[in-house]
Amino acid sequence: MASCSNILVVFLVLLWVFIAKADTTISLKKYGGIPGGKIDSTKALQKAWADACAAEGKSQIIIPHGDYLVGPVLFKGPCKGPVTIQLDGNLLADANLGHYKSNWLDFQYIDGLTFKGRGKLDGQGASAWPHNNCPKNWSCKLLPMTMSLSFVTNSSIRGISSLNPKFFHVNLFSCRNLDLRWLTISAPGDSPNTDGIHVGGSSNIAISDSAISTGDDCISLGSGTANVTVSGVTCGPGHGISVGSLGKDADKGDVVGLTVKNCTLTGTSNGIRIKSWKTKRGSRFWEMMKVEDFLFENVAMKNVANPIFIDQEYCPYAACPESEPSRVKINGVKFRNIRGTSSSDEVIKMVCSRRYPCEGVELRDIYLRYIGDDAQLKERATCKNVKGTSSNVKPVSCF
Ligand SMILES: *[C@@H]1O[C@H](CO)[C@@H](O)[C@H](O)[C@H]1NC(C)=O
Ligand SMILES: *[C@@H]1O[C@H](CO)[C@@H](O)[C@H](O)[C@H]1NC(C)=O
Ligand SMILES: *[C@@H]1O[C@H](CO)[C@@H](O)[C@H](O)[C@H]1NC(C)=O
Ligand SMILES: *[C@@H]1O[C@H](CO)[C@@H](O)[C@H](O)[C@H]1NC(C)=O
Repeated sequence: MASCSNILVVFLVLLWVFIAKADTTISLKKYGGIPGGKIDSTKALQKAWADACAAEGKSQIIIPHGDYLVGPVLFKGPCKGPVTIQLDGNLLADANLGHYKSNWLDFQYIDGLTFKGRGKLDGQGASAWPHNNCPKNWSCKLLPMTMSLSFVTNSSIRGISSLNPKFFHVNLFSCRNLDLRWLTISAPGDSPNTDGIHVGGSSNIAISDSAISTGDDCISLGSGTANVTVSGVTCGPGHGISVGSLGKDADKGDVVGLTVKNCTLTGTSNGIRIKSWKTKRGSRFWEMMKVEDFLFENVAMKNVANPIFIDQEYCPYAACPESEPSRVKINGVKFRNIRGTSSSDEVIKMVCSRRYPCEGVELRDIYLRYIGDDAQLKERATCKNVKGTSSNVKPVSCF
């Protein structure tokens, strides 16, 4: 009798394990996705997501080899269990801008997403770029981003490629515990606002072992962001690794905890940059914002303009002479072992806020050599309102 009930218990446990582990696998093809890159597969992908997200336990969507044309897709949670999207094939974005309300692949409110594979996300941006008026128009209409993640937690994106987005490649907003690795991100160096990975309002984000060549910032951080680590990333062409622009109008939320290690920048128009706006005269927004606890270590610069650059007088527009010092306080930023070549003579430039000078800036083991065309020029370091320490900084340093 006892052994009989034992067997029953073992059987029930095995049954439970089996049911719990029974993954739902959905193939885009079976859902009506049509390879060839010509016939729209948006509905198939949207339906695949709906079913995967509603499935109990783990589920997986397989995008098989081949090219699939898709317009905007909303991957909305919360889901019943963790969802994996296996990208073996390529997704081609619908080129008709009229079909988009906001972004192309929009992930929202998901816990435990895995998006992986060797496939490509081709934003087919070239025909959209002429419609981007953001470089000229302050209140422009934003074009669709390739991947937008909002309120996504405990998730990873691995292996996939993004090319020629209409706007940003990847945008993270209000995300937590994300792991991004082995990504290949590419667009022409002159494509407008094709930022690589922008992180805003998010925390515990790791970006590693990836290659980013694009038309705007390689990686950028916006306000309300904490604990970001970047390692083994190559950038270029593009605008480099950037924090900001911070402190504009109502902008708030500190940026705390950024580590950038073992990265190489090649031919970028900035290296490591922290930028904040001046405050508009008569502004209602005076709350101090903090930028704190940054470490940049082992960064190789190859033919980079402005390799080390803090700019708290950022103002690319005309309205700035009527302005007050930045309300962003920079504290504890360490630059260690930053070496290589610069295409601008100003190899170190730190222009900090008169109101809130930069403090705790460390320069250690820095060697940046000017290799630009002008034989008259020599390396320069410019620092305003900066307090810090330096050791072994060549050929020029501020303090
Ligand atoms: C700026 O872009 C907005 C939104 O697309 C548009 O309504 C406005 O007319 C543009 N302004 C200028 C000066 O082009
Ligand atoms: C993410 O994972 C952590 C544990 O690693 C867990 O505490 C947290 O609840 C998860 N987040 C969500 C939104 O479920
Ligand atoms: C950032 O990391 C530190 C140290 O691990 C931790 O104490 C802090 O809570 C984290 N901040 C956020 C917003 O997750
Ligand atoms: C950076 O590179 C060094 C030397 O190759 C290695 O020991 C270290 O683990 C790397 N760190 C990261 C965060 O990749």
